[in-house]
Amino acid sequence: MIFGAILAGGTGSRMGNYTLPKQFLPLGDMPIIIHVVEKFLVHPKIDCVVIGVNPEWHQYMLDLIEKYFPNQSNLLLVDGGTDRNSTIDHIICEIRKHSQNDDDIIVTHDAVRPFVTVKMISDNITLAKKYGICDTVIPATDTIVYSENHMYITDIPIRKNVYQGQTPQSFQIKLFEDVYHAMTKEELDTVTDACKMFMLKGHQVYLAEGHVSNIKITYADDYKSAQIMLGSMNGEKMS
Ligand code: CTP
Repeated sequence: MIFGAILAGGTGSRMGNYTLPKQFLPLGDMPIIIHVVEKFLVHPKIDCVVIGVNPEWHQYMLDLIEKYFPNQSNLLLVDGGTDRNSTIDHIICEIRKHSQNDDDIIVTHDAVRPFVTVKMISDNITLAKKYGICDTVIPATDTIVYSENHMYITDIPIRKNVYQGQTPQSFQIKLFEDVYHAMTKEELDTVTDACKMFMLKGHQVYLAEGHVSNIKITYADDYKSAQIMLGSMNGEKMS
């Protein structure tokens, strides 16, 4: 089976002064997370969608599900963990109650990237089936400057080899379980990105093609950009 995993365990502390975690803020006529869940639910290859939500917002999310997706039998809700990887782990524990197949694939996606496309999800599924693990990226346009001490530059990687990571990130579920459970506590404390875990344990992570429009809403300015982008997409549809 192919599972969509919507990562919504965070509270959006970098967004500043909003009364709701960013994934619940309105974008057009519905909350950001609902745009994301809908994209996964309508995808023809996704069998089931599991949302991992911050436990304090569990009931709030249940109410949203009731409002936007009533009687949707292939939509599950679990409590997220204290960090992003543990939210994925919680989602996988829920999936294992329903399926034990080692070939199952999970397509994980940030609840705050509402402009993910059908093609990105499809490409992720194809690559995860073929290679086991993939990450969605776009080529870096700015020169990336690396500094280990935050005082002076220690490296400037060759730009054509540098990409910016997005989501979805997709894996065979069994591979994630093996790698996650092989991590030490120190490694888990420092590694926030799921694909970095696979790399640490010697796996190759294949690249899927993202898009500049697949922004993550992190700061208030990103939220404003998302509102403008949605407005112009809706304008294009009407004209
Ligand atoms: N996330 C998660 N579980 C956590 C922490 C984060 O599922 N324990 C999710 C967020 O909900 C978000 C995605 O991971 O959809 C990307 O993380 P980020 O943008 O850092 O979200 P927040 O942790 O909510 O933001 P901040 O770091 O500003 O608090």
